[in-house]
Order: sequence, then C-alpha cells, then structure tokens
Amino acid sequence: MEWLPPPDDHPTPSLIVHGGVVDRNLSRMQSYCNNHALNLRPHTKTHKSLEMARRQLAVGAVGLTVAKVGEAEIMSRVCSDVFIAYPAVGSHRLARIATLGKSHRISIGIDSLAAAKSLQDAAASQSCKLGVLVDLEVGFFRTGVEDPKNAIALCEFVASQKNLDFRGVMCFPGHILPSADDSVWYAYTDSLAKVIDQLQSRSIPVPIVSGGSTPTAMQSHRNPLLNEIRPGTYIYNDMNEVRLGVATLDDCAARVLATVVSTPSRNKFIVDAGSKTLSSDRNCVDADSGFGYVVEFPDAKISRLSEEHGEVVLPEASPSKPPRVGDRIWIIPNHICVSVNLQNSFYLLEQETLDQLPVDARGMLV
Ligand SMILES: Cc1ncc(COP(=O)(O)O)c(C=O)c1O
Repeated sequence: MEWLPPPDDHPTPSLIVHGGVVDRNLSRMQSYCNNHALNLRPHTKTHKSLEMARRQLAVGAVGLTVAKVGEAEIMSRVCSDVFIAYPAVGSHRLARIATLGKSHRISIGIDSLAAAKSLQDAAASQSCKLGVLVDLEVGFFRTGVEDPKNAIALCEFVASQKNLDFRGVMCFPGHILPSADDSVWYAYTDSLAKVIDQLQSRSIPVPIVSGGSTPTAMQSHRNPLLNEIRPGTYIYNDMNEVRLGVATLDDCAARVLATVVSTPSRNKFIVDAGSKTLSSDRNCVDADSGFGYVVEFPDAKISRLSEEHGEVVLPEASPSKPPRVGDRIWIIPNHICVSVNLQNSFYLLEQETLDQLPVDARGMLV
C-alpha cells in the first residue's frame, strides 16, 4: 500500500500509522481465528490506542488484553471485557482492579497462591467478583507455574473462593519459533494437557485456554487445546516480525518519519530519530542488523543511537545517492511496542488525511 509523504511542515520525528495496512493486518488475524474457532483477545500493549482497540473489537475481537492496571482502566472505556495478563501483586494495584471489577468483566492472570489470596481479599472488600486465569509455564520460563501439581492446587484454590471466578488457564509461548517442528508443538500441548485433564477429571471446568503471541499466532491450531489467542504486535508489525519471516515490509503499518539533520561524511548521515523515538532494542533475530530499517536506503544500517541522534551508515559500494540535509526518510523500528510507548501521539494516515491521535495508554507503569 502507498505511503503518501506528509506535507513538508509535518513535524519530525513522528510515528505514522497507515490505516489501510492496520485494517488488512486486523482482518487477516481475525479471519485466521474465525477459521480455526479461536477467540481473539489482542494484547493492546502494541498500540495503546483507543482508536486501534475499537478497530480490533469492530472486526471481531472478544475482548482486550493489557499488562498494566492503568492500561486496563483506559481500555475499559471502549471494552467491557478486559484481561490483565500480568500478576496483579501489591495493594496499589489490587484496589484499582477491584474498583474496575464492579463495572467490567475483568480477569487477571496469576501464578501464585499469594496473588490469589490478595485478589480474593480485594474483590471481597469491594463486593465484586474477579475472573482468574492461572498462568502455566510452557517453555518460555518467565512467569507461569512450573509444576503441574502446584498449578492444579492453585486452580482448585481459585475455584473455591467466593469472590474469584476460575475462568481457565493462560500461557505465553514466546519461546516457539515460527519454524518449530511438530515435536515442539506436541510438548507445548502436553504441558497444558497435564493440568487441564486433571482439572476436568475433578469436575473443574476450564472455559478459557489462552495462548498465542504474534510469531506463532497463525499456527495456534497446532495446539488443539487453545481456544483463545492474545497476539499484540500483529496490528503494526515491525522488523522483528519481518526478520522472523511472519510479516513483510509491506505489512509494517507503523513507521517513523525522520529528517536528515547532518551529513558528516559521504557514507554517513544523522537523523533526528534516536533512542527516544526508535528505542534502543536490537533486532531479536539479527542483533547486528542495526536499530531499524530505512525504507529509502535498504542497504543502510542504523548503526548507532544517542537519545536524539540516529547514525545511519551506507556501505562503501552503495549504489544509493546519499541524502541531503533536510531530506526525510521512513524508518521501520525493530520493536514497535516500545517505540509506540515513547510517543505522546501518532499520526493516522487514512487515504490522504493525516490525523493526530493520542497514545492513550502510554507510560502506564502500574
Ligand atoms: C502475556 C503476553 N501475552 C501476549 C503477548 C503478545 O505477544 P506479541 O507481542 O508477540 O504479539 C505478550 C507480549 O509480550 C505477552 O507478554
């Protein structure tokens, strides 16, 4: 799809999102889910935008996922069913979650008895019911109960609590590469089955089995136990997804527009997008590929970042004509979620219009 250059006086650096590419990415993922009887509950950490959340819900998402309580508060303005896929620990979080639980269907992913007990207390103190999904470890080794026996005990405890509603299990299969073979998918399925089968034999229903991140989202049917997935990055995509082979450059819906502010030597130029715009994340597939992709100079490397400077180097033998001071370039960041979180606003490109929209849920630390 075409990216019309913004007018000359458009400020840089700025994050520009192509509405047409977004809609295509959303409908592709939604169709996949519809074809495989999977519910889609997108993680909104990527866009943090109410407009983008509305679009996801409009095409068929069953609800939204967030990490932070502050994000849940913002997203609850457009969605009645929000999943906090992050252990809600600490009274500063719990009181706010329980308040939200009085008006919305809120679920929380937890992996400890301590979290379950404090969630129960918080829900009881505000006379509400909170949903719980128990987080199971499936190979990524971050959060998630590792021992199936402990996981079953935690699920049973949650199911027995007056103010908690046991809604199922969640996991994060971030270790599975798009190229993974059947043995990896069998192991993934098996680690969930060890818990789910036992719960069912004890007459504890497991209505939700929630997994999925962008790199393997469209292979989720290879784990037949999943009935919900939570990809986030798929809405915009980035150079991580491109180098993983699950998106093309054309599928990247968010780009940074930057201005060349200096050309210190023939093969080097400096743009006004540094780590405060692009983030200093390296590429997850090729850490040495630089800090993003320059659309106009495919052979260039963003070799170094300071906060406000991006240093771009062209190879000695590059056929490209170096840019001049004042020229503008498009950059596709390595990791779009962190880049979005650095911006107060973004510009939505829709045919020929460019609207400035807030990044509504940026910077929510709690
Ligand atoms: C718990 C959880 N669910 C879903 C996602 C979405 O994954 P992705 O960014 O690959 O789309 C993430 C990403 O970090 C996550 O931590």
